[in-house]
Amino acid sequence: MTEIQQNTLKKRIFSGMQPSGEAHLGNYLGALRRWVGMQDEYDCVWCIVDDHAITSGGDPAEMPSSVFDLAVSFLAVGLDPERSTIFVQSDVHEHTELAWLFNAVTPVGDLERMTQYKDKAQHFESIPAGILNYPILQAADILLYKANAVPVGEDQRQHLELTREVARKFNARYGETFPITEPLIGEDVGRILGLDGNAKMSKSLGNTVGILADPDDVWDKVRTAVTDPQRVRRDDPGRPEVCNVFALHRFFTEENAREEIEAGCRSADLGCVDCKRILSGNIATSFAPYRERATHYREHPSEVRDVLDQGAEKAQKIASETMQEVRRKMGLNWRNAIP
Ligand code: TYM
Repeated sequence: MTEIQQNTLKKRIFSGMQPSGEAHLGNYLGALRRWVGMQDEYDCVWCIVDDHAITSGGDPAEMPSSVFDLAVSFLAVGLDPERSTIFVQSDVHEHTELAWLFNAVTPVGDLERMTQYKDKAQHFESIPAGILNYPILQAADILLYKANAVPVGEDQRQHLELTREVARKFNARYGETFPITEPLIGEDVGRILGLDGNAKMSKSLGNTVGILADPDDVWDKVRTAVTDPQRVRRDDPGRPEVCNVFALHRFFTEENAREEIEAGCRSADLGCVDCKRILSGNIATSFAPYRERATHYREHPSEVRDVLDQGAEKAQKIASETMQEVRRKMGLNWRNAIP
């Protein structure tokens, strides 16, 4: 069987990440690590969503390097251009075109109900339309590739429900076109807490650890992490079940060592600082191969450019096929009026 035949048998998955520099632990555990493991089973499309990122009003001068840094993170953790399509959203203009067309089937009320919209809107006196329409562009990203499933963290669940609704409405009005996409949300990694104990680890909250950070920088972040709030003094026994540092040990520390940490915490033999030192060391060690690969890509930026150029070309082929079908179904083919 040829590779192309095999690809058509595989289900397609799509996912995206905003370029805000290198990926952090939440992105990694909730998304990237899982994406890497999906590359053999699925026909994978991974996108750096810079058109989305402009809605948060960052500095345009920093955007190119933020995109580059995220692409380096993608490649460093093992997203593989031989097995996946990796590209930048603004290189494939069909994303914004389809988003515009989806405006025709998306009720404003559905957009206003999105919790991310409500959260973001609070920060503006005059709310940019892009913040309201953000999930339409996300639906366009996914449906342009007719993706069957989308691996994401829990925070994206509501946007994926809207994507399903957009697909249903479009199909009902213009004929069966798009699949009803399934969210793939990791059970224990759907929502990684911030180091400050905030309900979400997020770059904008400054409570993250970068996956390519040097060991010293990892320690600088991990040492600030909140632990069991009732463990005030060194001699107080701790409760690992409520401690976020212990929760992170689950991903970076061997089971035996973890059991020792748990017992040491409960008996107060192990203090929080020492527990954090172990975690920080284990994070830095398990990411060492990523740091090494990232150094390679930073020294050979043209390799990154080639991956993204080839990815955009592959993505564009699929995107333009979908758009031809969509334009035809929506009557955007005036030449048909001329015999
Ligand atoms: P973004 O860039 O905020 O995050 C990228 C991915 O990382 C996951 N993630 C987390 N998972 C668990 N715990 C956390 N603390 C955490 N922080 C981030 C996110 O759930 C996401 O999977 N709107 C999207 C980008 C996007 C997209 C798409 C995603 C645009 N188009 C189409 C999927 C499909 C976003 O802002 O993700």
